[in-house]
Amino acid sequence: MKEHLKISKTIVLVGLMGAGKTIIGQKLATRLNFDFVDADDEIEEAAGCRISEIFTRYGEASFREGEKRVISRLLVGPAHVLATGGGAFMDEETRLQISKLAISLWLKADLEILLRRVARRSHRPLLNNVNKRETLKRLMKERHPFYSKADIIINSGRNSSDVTVEDAINKLKNFTFKSKHYFPGAI
Ligand code: S3P
Repeated sequence: MKEHLKISKTIVLVGLMGAGKTIIGQKLATRLNFDFVDADDEIEEAAGCRISEIFTRYGEASFREGEKRVISRLLVGPAHVLATGGGAFMDEETRLQISKLAISLWLKADLEILLRRVARRSHRPLLNNVNKRETLKRLMKERHPFYSKADIIINSGRNSSDVTVEDAINKLKNFTFKSKHYFPGAI
């Protein structure tokens, strides 16, 4: 079902690795009739290599610069649903630009849920060859205070992705209605 809700701004999904930004982002985009863009894919496309290679060859700082540039470019383009990598919202300028141009939505998930989701994947350099539980615990501590600045907070992983998307739509309706980024009527 397409939503009878037209939002004029890009919706930026933030949250830790394994929070479900891609799956929820894709479903949300379908419901809102928006394009879905994954910032990590765009970074890989711009760099011509995988994120793990960027980390190994050039280091994390270089990845962060590329991430910032790519997100900045995407934010000034047409409205869409944008899934960002877990570290993107830590950057102050990125946060500022998101707060001006977009609606931010934190997909908040428990440690056990994150661990379950990242367990079998090896494409995330920050979680390779380390204790995933301890690393995620540390990142939660470091990053949650920043994610909590998002416009909307959604619990992710306790329910099915469809229920989570429904929750996101309802909170978006509320938020956009209050902040006037909302046009009633069918798309
Ligand atoms: C990172 C998260 C990754 C990716 C990179 C760094 C992070 O994206 O951007 O590996 O710092 O949390 P996902 O959150 O989509 O896994």
